[in-house]
Amino acid sequence: MSAESTVVTARHFKYLAARTTPEDDFLRDLKVAAAAAGIPAIWISPEQASLMQILLKLCGVREVIEIGTLAGYSAIAMARALPPNGVVRTIEISGAYADFAEEWIAKSDVAGKIEVLRGQAQQVLPKFTNDWADAVFIDADKANYALYLQQSLRIVRRRGLIMVDNAFAFGRLFDEADPDPAVAQIRAFNDLMAGQPELKSIIVPIGDGCWVGVKM
Ligand code: DHB
Ligand code: MG
Repeated sequence: MSAESTVVTARHFKYLAARTTPEDDFLRDLKVAAAAAGIPAIWISPEQASLMQILLKLCGVREVIEIGTLAGYSAIAMARALPPNGVVRTIEISGAYADFAEEWIAKSDVAGKIEVLRGQAQQVLPKFTNDWADAVFIDADKANYALYLQQSLRIVRRRGLIMVDNAFAFGRLFDEADPDPAVAQIRAFNDLMAGQPELKSIIVPIGDGCWVGVKM
């Protein structure tokens, strides 16, 4: 332990997780069904969902853009933190994942608050105008994270929130020999994010490392 910080160990993590609102049966069932449908088990953790919900509420977020829907877990979690007129617009490139997510969103408690946008985020994002979204959550192909950040900075309003998943590169951030290009892409992205003059940001060590930034 340094003077300023207690290093978070697995034991600390278990401790805080045990004191965080657990996920409900619906999201648990969604994960089981998604895994059975062959969707990779790479959804956010319940602790990260809680963190994001708190941030969305604190920022009074109404309009959220999500890049990478996967099974819809995070979209549903985020939509639950929005006011009645809030919307999550979530972009998904895989038709099969979008189908699954739409099916589960439709039977969720936030069915009217999520819109699944099918297609490549690189093509969908430029259609959004400047400075209006209250929050963005980036959680898609790591090769395009820099591009997604650039678009997010354009689309999000001042004092809006930019959250980015996987700052710890699937737990392999410090594995220099890792041949997965996504790991190197995350490292480069983290440096890019840290150097953004338009953002006040920090990696929160929840889940696989969640970047939280506010647009100045
Ligand atoms: C992977 C992607 C993610 O967004 C994630 O949260 C975990 C793993 C992956 O591509 O392996
Ligand atoms: Mg992720």
